Amino acid sequence: MRQILGFALVSTLALQLAPAQDKRPAQVQRGQELFEKSPKGVACANCHKVKSIGTAVGPDLLTLAGVVGSHGLVKTIQMQTTEYVQTVKTADGKVFPGIQKQKQGEELQIWDLSQMPPVLKTLASKDVTSMARETKWKHPPTTAGYNSQELADIIGFLKFLANGSKTEIKIEDVEDPK
Ligand code: HEC
Repeated sequence: MRQILGFALVSTLALQLAPAQDKRPAQVQRGQELFEKSPKGVACANCHKVKSIGTAVGPDLLTLAGVVGSHGLVKTIQMQTTEYVQTVKTADGKVFPGIQKQKQGEELQIWDLSQMPPVLKTLASKDVTSMARETKWKHPPTTAGYNSQELADIIGFLKFLANGSKTEIKIEDVEDPK
């Protein structure tokens, strides 16, 4: 009986979810695939959280995706200089690129970006000897070799989540004008 009930529940859920899924443009679905488990390099979801997908290591993307155009988004995805990543040095002599998650009292939580997926470390403030601007860390998408169509799909997905936009992002929306 429980099995039957369970099955009935799953089928009803599937029926309810299916039409909603179908309304998502194909580009949005392709973009989500790439975001979650890209075959190229490290998937975005390892470091960014959008709605319930992924881990919030790096900054929130949806606010940005809601206000910045496709060209601007590609530029930030392919950024050569970073703003938040720090070179973290610890009392035991370790040095790693990190991004601070939070500081609570005498404790710091820092994502260690030298590991993949990044690892959240909890350190006593006194054991962090310095945090200074990091210049060598590279945002993974800069070397992953995404083509313009893939970038357009990722941006289509982000814009859909940001403001429900179903406008197809085209190649010319992400490439530099010739
Ligand atoms: C290894 C972790 C990691 C991966 C993988 C990653 N990012 Fe990031 N991303 C970051 C970090 C950290 C920052 C902040 C960099 C800085 O400015 O210091 C960032 C910044 C950004 C920004 C700029 C946000 C802002 O407000 O400045 C965008 C846009 C972005 N990432 C999109 C993506 C997309 C899209 C992907 C996948 C194609 C991706 N990222 C993959 C860690 C990652």
